[in-house]
Amino acid sequence: MSGYSPPEWVKDLGAEAAFAVLAKAKEVERRGKKVYHLEIGEPDFDTPSHIKEAATEALRRGETHYTPTLGIPELRQAVAESVKRDYGVDVSWEDNVAITIGCKQGILAAILALVEKGEEVIYPNPGYPEYESAAWFAGGKPVPYNLSIEESFRMTPEKLAEMITPKTKVVVVNTPGNPTGVIMSEEDIKGIVDLSEDHGFYILSDEVYRPIVFDGLKHVSPLHIKRSLDRLVVADGFSKRYAMTGWRLGWLLTPKEMMPYIFKLLNVMTSCPPAFNQYGGIAALKGPQNPVYEMAREYERRRDIVVEELSKIDGINFVRPTGAFYALVDVSKVLDRLGLRSEEFVIKLIEEYGVALLHGTALGSNGEGYIRISFAASEESIRQGIRRLGKAVEDALKS
Ligand SMILES: Cc1ncc(COP(=O)(O)O)c(C=O)c1O
Repeated sequence: MSGYSPPEWVKDLGAEAAFAVLAKAKEVERRGKKVYHLEIGEPDFDTPSHIKEAATEALRRGETHYTPTLGIPELRQAVAESVKRDYGVDVSWEDNVAITIGCKQGILAAILALVEKGEEVIYPNPGYPEYESAAWFAGGKPVPYNLSIEESFRMTPEKLAEMITPKTKVVVVNTPGNPTGVIMSEEDIKGIVDLSEDHGFYILSDEVYRPIVFDGLKHVSPLHIKRSLDRLVVADGFSKRYAMTGWRLGWLLTPKEMMPYIFKLLNVMTSCPPAFNQYGGIAALKGPQNPVYEMAREYERRRDIVVEELSKIDGINFVRPTGAFYALVDVSKVLDRLGLRSEEFVIKLIEEYGVALLHGTALGSNGEGYIRISFAASEESIRQGIRRLGKAVEDALKS
């Protein structure tokens, strides 16, 4: 025994459980059982080749040294240009843009730069676990906004208004959302922007799934409404839309006054983003955007398959996804019948039915009763995986 004892706050940190589910599924596969994988939230596409080539060329050229902490100017400029193109809003690459190690680091840096000890961070639950963990890191108080299937997983300005206190510092919005797969309406975003203006809290808008929207719907950001970064931080990145999860590259848009503190935090954490990756990022933003839209259309096609297959299962409930690549399924009836928690049901699904899904509690305490399906997977995996879920539900409800 080394005598090691972790500090209390580290004990309480939540790490992403999808990786633990994957490890469990791999263990079952090693025993010779076929498992369909619908648990991990990452594109199954390869990074488009022009992006890989740009990074490879940079590596060959010797771009292997430290870069400025906030990223190389050309990439920050490319981000600013993409913001102008996509939102019609002018931002300054020097004052407002930081390059981060994935959107995840941007979320952490933003919350650390904003939150004093004891201040409250309201975040969607179930939701991406980083928001709650980052609030802990900052010594703040994470306050879950409980999403419910009855309200189609909406974060409504009316309910939010009831949760705001003098200590509310940040409200996190995530659209299109993980794990709900729903996009927020312009009306709801506008209502939250109005609340921010009345009460003075910051909005942290996580837009990592931004172009992955379906049914001809449009992603609406608080930035579209406000047209400035006044009390607004946007965390975004390359991972999902360009299939670049392993590159660990993202960006943050912040008000000018905040940027020196983002600089300090990123400098302390990582000194700078990887040099050659940033050239891949430039190629992604400045190169052809059709791969992004082609992948989004393919996710939409798969969404239709998910809806078709889920609709055949009696005893569950879900909201038709309108973005990202997730469907959140209410299996509470099944859990009640089996006397299991969602985490235990997920293990049962892997071991007995050969399908790996993510339990809702991996995405927050309010995720009990749900499981998440990721459709960043092949059509075969989606159909077979959901049919196996269907069999498990049928077996449970007739037991
Ligand atoms: C909502 C949300 N935000 C941010 C991230 C992190 O993205 P990145 O890989 O760019 O760090 C994820 C990853 O799953 C996510 O689901």
